[in-house]
Amino acid sequence: KTFGLSVGLDMEGALTARDRVGIQDFVLLDETTEAAFLSNLNKRFSKDLIYVSLGKKTNFSRNPASKCVYIFTVNMIHSFNSCFVLDLHCYALADNAYHTMLAEFNNHFILISGESGAGKTEASKKILQYYAVSCPSTALLNTVRDKMLMSNPVLEAFGNAKTLKNDNSSRFGKYMDIQFDSEGEAVGGHILNYLLEKSRVVHQNHGERNFHIFYQLVQGGEEDLLHQLGLERDCQHYNYLTQGECAIVASINDKDEWKTVKNALQVVNIDEINTNHLFGIVASVLHLGNVQFDSDSKGHSKKKLTKCFVFFLQLLGVDAHTLQEGLTYRKIEAQKDQVLSPFTIDHAIYARDALAKAMYGQTFTWLVNRINESMENKDSSRKTVIGLLDIYGFEVFYVNSFEQFCINYCNEKLQQLFIQLTLKSEQEEYEAEDIEWEPVQFFNNKIICDLVEEKHRGIISILDEECLRPGDATDLTFLERLEDKMGNHPHFVTHKLADKMTRKTLERGDFRLLHYAGEVTYCVVGFLDKNNDLLYRNIKDVSLQFCTLYYVRVATQFKSSLLKLTEILMAKEAWYIRCLKSNESKQPGQFDEALIRHQVKYLGLMEHLRVRRAGFAYRRKYEDFLKRYKPLCPATWPHWRGVPADGVEVLIQHLGYLPNEYKMGRTKIFIRHPRTLYATEDAYERCKHELVKKNYTPSIIFYFSSSATKIETCWRGVQARKEREKRAWAVKVIKQFIKGYMTRGQAKITDNSEYLAFVRQNYLNRLKDNLPKTVLDKTTWLSPPSVLTEASEILRKLHYRLMVRKYVRGISTQRKLQMKLITSSLFKGKKDSYPQSVAQPFVDSRISEQDINPRALQMIRNEHIKYGVPVVKYNRNGFKPRPRQLILTQAAAYVIDEAKIKQRVLYAFLKGISVSNLTDGMVVFHITCEDPKQKGDLVMQCDHLFEFLTKLGVIANKQNVIKVVQGSIKIEIQAGKESAVDFGTGQEPMVYKAKNGHLMVVS
Ligand SMILES: Nc1ncnc2c1ncn2[C@@H]1O[C@H](COP(=O)(O)OP(=O)(O)OP(=O)(O)O)[C@@H](O)[C@H]1O
Ligand SMILES: [Mg+2]
Repeated sequence: KTFGLSVGLDMEGALTARDRVGIQDFVLLDETTEAAFLSNLNKRFSKDLIYVSLGKKTNFSRNPASKCVYIFTVNMIHSFNSCFVLDLHCYALADNAYHTMLAEFNNHFILISGESGAGKTEASKKILQYYAVSCPSTALLNTVRDKMLMSNPVLEAFGNAKTLKNDNSSRFGKYMDIQFDSEGEAVGGHILNYLLEKSRVVHQNHGERNFHIFYQLVQGGEEDLLHQLGLERDCQHYNYLTQGECAIVASINDKDEWKTVKNALQVVNIDEINTNHLFGIVASVLHLGNVQFDSDSKGHSKKKLTKCFVFFLQLLGVDAHTLQEGLTYRKIEAQKDQVLSPFTIDHAIYARDALAKAMYGQTFTWLVNRINESMENKDSSRKTVIGLLDIYGFEVFYVNSFEQFCINYCNEKLQQLFIQLTLKSEQEEYEAEDIEWEPVQFFNNKIICDLVEEKHRGIISILDEECLRPGDATDLTFLERLEDKMGNHPHFVTHKLADKMTRKTLERGDFRLLHYAGEVTYCVVGFLDKNNDLLYRNIKDVSLQFCTLYYVRVATQFKSSLLKLTEILMAKEAWYIRCLKSNESKQPGQFDEALIRHQVKYLGLMEHLRVRRAGFAYRRKYEDFLKRYKPLCPATWPHWRGVPADGVEVLIQHLGYLPNEYKMGRTKIFIRHPRTLYATEDAYERCKHELVKKNYTPSIIFYFSSSATKIETCWRGVQARKEREKRAWAVKVIKQFIKGYMTRGQAKITDNSEYLAFVRQNYLNRLKDNLPKTVLDKTTWLSPPSVLTEASEILRKLHYRLMVRKYVRGISTQRKLQMKLITSSLFKGKKDSYPQSVAQPFVDSRISEQDINPRALQMIRNEHIKYGVPVVKYNRNGFKPRPRQLILTQAAAYVIDEAKIKQRVLYAFLKGISVSNLTDGMVVFHITCEDPKQKGDLVMQCDHLFEFLTKLGVIANKQNVIKVVQGSIKIEIQAGKESAVDFGTGQEPMVYKAKNGHLMVVS
């Protein structure tokens, strides 16, 4: 059920072999240069070690797999064995993320990055499969799981295609949330898709194909279906399938895939009608691609009426005239009239292709929505999620266009997020360990993100403006606008702006961005059209019949969806799988250094390493560190009896660590440079060898290595005595145990006490692993052995109380915020000490029940105590200060002095509450008292004034009688007898009775 395998060697163990096989954890590279990075990769690679990592998540003890793994993929997978090992790393990471999620009840995501063909999609499938197989499940949930798994073949059929780099290349970005309930069961999923490469529908480069689904339908579709759709079983027949001249590929079996996809469509609840409709659209795109145009004598286009056009019309139920007009005329609105202007053939083809792309794009979005509906979990209880992000990596081609611009911008954003998250988690660890954070030098790519996305000023905004501008906007006028606006931006250059040398490398229609990963030159041709993604207006009328079109510009839409993605990811804990391709020719064992260097750069690995290495490269829990290295110091070997942290301190002093080489955290030691660790590790290695060679204890090696033989004899004697004692002890224990078992039901006597201790321990251990997990679960409780019946009952109650408390704590945070809002409405801008109080959290009560004298408690307990706070009360005759407890119940406020209740103020008689506008903590309760014998107003000073008054306001519903007064507060000492409290400011705070008989408060 769970994944118990610990992947790789343990961290320090791996150090021993570092010269031979490189370092498994990059954090421990001595130098953070690109050359050192590559050389280490090469060493690992040459030993067939397809996995390396960066920074282990050590605070989670389950298994020490990394938060980030780099894996060599395709090119290494030449045997079952390497395939298997590769999968294990994905599983281990998935397993760690899952168990951290369960333990910490928070959200996570796994970012999978790498070049095209590096294995991202395969890794994401492995992870999904792992969750499907290893999480607990019920029959009902199995169906959710099947849907999640089956969403893959459907989306791959419609969104993947053969490219030069990968026979199954994903042509869209995908983020999938897997939702888990509190028991850890996968209960639902949701997919977000990003920027499908629609241009592929109408054009493919040589050696590439259109989306798989077209070939699957043509090759695998049943005879009846093809007949119905008017299709022939021959890819060569269709313009849209043959441009790359490789409709048939040896590694792809379209017929089999067709079956898988049809089955998968059923699993994700797409019914027969919708399935037919779906294939109808796929077929009509093929037909549309075959629509051709002639030109008349004036060069205007005329559509040829062919069989395919008729089929297209039939399949979509579109009116022939409307479509014909749409494909051959452009509707122009001139003032209030509409004029039809005839197309040239080029225009007509453009309109045809635009329609095909729009239809396919909308269909893809529709599919994702249907899949999401089928995986949706409708139960509203709180879920935690693990997100999987499989998104296109940085792309640089010979000619780069709008698509690459969007993709690279996406990577720029992810890099930013990546660095932020790494910095954040590092900072959190330092904070938790009480270690001062040292600023890290790294390249912040915000400047490039801003260049692309800034409102009104960024490239995307300028592109949008140019698309909307009346007049003749073209790709080149767009470039001019960019030059005007970005003229001297350090990351932007064009032919016009460049210096002589650079100019030689740029065409006139190019602009170049200096991305974090390097320079990319974009050709502006097609930017406006692609961003517009517009159909001519009359064609839009046609397509509106079967789908709704969005009018948002593509780049802006992409920008806002990336923004949303960033928000989603920022709120989660990150895990990374970074895939590396070792060569382009899919050859095992080939390490193409240039290619790998390129990937290291474009994945931003060096920057990641630098940030991760901020300050201290290595950190380990004191216990673990001591356990490994204690033989290196006589004071810690063989046992250190004190606190582990002290042991570590003694140990490293002995080893001669310099003060700036390490820091001692709360639970861990932090070591700045890997070389310090290496020296320690090497010393440990030497010490181990000595030990093995001579069979001595290390302390002896340190001090007595010359008198070896004598000590050896002595040592053997000690060993033998120890052994004898151990055996005698064992016999005694076993005997006692048997006897204990036989007398287990009897009263506790010496003979069965050991046995009962065992029973107790055993029960408690099992209980620990089988506790009920929710407040509502009242049935789960391990039945106790008879000796523990009473204890078990007490434990059960305690545990239940604990769960309730946890639950309530969650609610109470929210309540505390509401309280703070009330305080603000009462005192903000009125009382001078309010601003300082804002940051201080409110607590439930300042006095617990144990702190109240039992006799006083006895008298008020029935009223349910809501809040208590210590106050100083100024008595009415002479204003003498007296410490008191003030307790608020549902009905009244009590002034308590030890066992006595000095005064009870029923809320009904509390007619006013006054405080001054200054910084003092004085408060006056104005009390209605008709009887002259009754006590008068209460004058008190309280250190938690805002908390106290807010609570009182809420509990007694008296917010409206709380007044902030300037100068002086009148008080009634008894019915009819008046005095006052006066307020002022001075050098030192004071409270005293003034000559006029008033109480004077100086703050
Ligand atoms: N773990 C793996 N096990 C078996 N084969 C793999 C594995 N990883 C990659 N491959 C092989 O490499 C090919 C490409 O992998 P994949 O489709 O996952 O690349 P990708 O990174 O998603 O590329 P793209 O960015 O083009 O979508 C796969 O079709 C498969 O043949
Ligand atoms: Mg992929």
